Amino acid sequence: MEKMLDLISQEVSAGFEQAGFAPAFGKVTASNRPDLCEYQCNGALSAAKTYHKAPIQIAQAVAQALEQSKLFSMVQAVMPGFLNLRLEPSFLAAYLEQMRTAPRFGLQEDPNAGTVVIDYGGPNVAKPLHIGHLRSAIIGESIKRTQRYFGNTVIGDIHLGDWGLQMGLIIAELKQRQPDLCYFDDSFSGPYPEQAPFTISELEEIYPTASAKSKEDEDFAKLAHDATVLLQQGKPGYRALWNHIMAVSVADLKKNYANLDVSFESWLGESDAQPYITPMLEMLEQKGLLVQSEGAKVIPVQEEGDKKEIPPCIIMKSDGATLYATTDLATMAQREKDFHPDKILYVVDKRQSLHFEQVFRAARKAGIIRPETELKHIGFGTMNGKDGKPFKTRAGGVMRLETLISEITEFVRAKVAENNLVTGEQADQTTAKIAMAALKYGDLSNQPTKDYVFDLDRFAAFEGNTGPYILYTIVRIKSILSRYGDWEALPIQAPLSAEAKDLMLAITRFGENMTLAYRDYAPNLICAYIYDLAGYLNKFYHETRILAEPDAEKQKGYIALIGLTKSILETCIDLLGFSAPEKM
Ligand code: ARG
Repeated sequence: MEKMLDLISQEVSAGFEQAGFAPAFGKVTASNRPDLCEYQCNGALSAAKTYHKAPIQIAQAVAQALEQSKLFSMVQAVMPGFLNLRLEPSFLAAYLEQMRTAPRFGLQEDPNAGTVVIDYGGPNVAKPLHIGHLRSAIIGESIKRTQRYFGNTVIGDIHLGDWGLQMGLIIAELKQRQPDLCYFDDSFSGPYPEQAPFTISELEEIYPTASAKSKEDEDFAKLAHDATVLLQQGKPGYRALWNHIMAVSVADLKKNYANLDVSFESWLGESDAQPYITPMLEMLEQKGLLVQSEGAKVIPVQEEGDKKEIPPCIIMKSDGATLYATTDLATMAQREKDFHPDKILYVVDKRQSLHFEQVFRAARKAGIIRPETELKHIGFGTMNGKDGKPFKTRAGGVMRLETLISEITEFVRAKVAENNLVTGEQADQTTAKIAMAALKYGDLSNQPTKDYVFDLDRFAAFEGNTGPYILYTIVRIKSILSRYGDWEALPIQAPLSAEAKDLMLAITRFGENMTLAYRDYAPNLICAYIYDLAGYLNKFYHETRILAEPDAEKQKGYIALIGLTKSILETCIDLLGFSAPEKM
């Protein structure tokens, strides 16, 4: 469907033309004086200069030309030359009826939709998830769903950090604790046990212990480093241990992400990029792109016109070790081979922006990715505590995802109990849904790049710009609809009140808002839109007797209108990554 603003602009442009002026002056915008009109056109002011006429005369001529228009109930020329417009209620109703019956409410898919890889989540295996990983998961999931809504084929790739020093640290620590394990016996000829020699909670204790030890104990640090190298060279016992670490951690991660309603199409990690490194290095050597710099091999990426210095992308250190950037480039080669993507989006902490700038430039220089493939780092800010410092749990420690979710859940549970509307098993479901909405909306309603303050009281409030408020609005509609009965087929009717018309106008803005959110990778724009929409719905609700309306025909119109609002709100929160309960 065409956007409402485009339709109106076309009509007003035709009016300009009919009155003898160039149609290009007919551009319409939303009104900045909603008390006076719904839309406005300021074209007569610019046309005045071209035609050497008073703007008000031009505006009046256009207003006259639009007198017969079926789109407007009012076209008013006002001083000094504005055109104030109001929509004809029947036209508005017909537009919404079309939205109601069209797929995706008439929203056009992206004509350039293609294959999109989204690199998000990015947890480091066996290390605790931190707040940055949480943000990446929440923002990435929403961007993924939005990309898909616009017709792209999307592959969400978790890109596990599974190849670093943490693996060597764990192996070295295990060796000290249990030297008799078969994994450390070089004469052991297998097969290795199927059962891991640790549980997830042991693993979660082993890593921080080993990490702390390596900072104080140089010998231990060396052991961990050597273990990492041996693992990477394929030492069978270490490889078997690595498999155990992976299996135990990935099972735990899957559980964590499922709780967050976040899912990945691809569970590859840094380790999966390793086979691509050698051929890539050969290619880079062959193309003469590697430059020696203090023993290291680097790709210079500084470009003419750069305002700041962009250091070279380091590919290999002097000891032969490869780095984070090497793995990211190799991963790109793997993605190009497997998916031939049109876009690769990286939803990663904004503090890594230099890294991605270097990697993107090196990838283009080396032709690892096709020139037309869009590479984009969607960098996000930090979630802070009320003290303005990166968020910590109540106990002051680093946040664990489970702790955070359970803190939110308990907070919400108390509120749900207070309201006393749902009980038993349903209370659990309602609580979980509200908690998820509080957490995700609290995050997503901010522009991704901005830091924000995690404030549970505010995020979980049922009023104000919050997830629970949106859910409350949906639940309110659901409850009316379920008391009414069959509503799905009822057509939209012309508005009977100012509140109804405002709500309908807000609904027409769905397409343009979603398109912006899609184009700018900005879930915050979806939040802003539904907050606005929910506000109009609630005003309409307070001013209208819906279930008590004696005129059955009128009532059908009300029901159809709130039904459409509900469908749109539900679609939008699904794109944000949460859903509404039946009751709350
Ligand atoms: N594991 C990394 C970290 O914790 C994030 C990975 C982001 N993705 C990437 N392709 N580099 O910082």
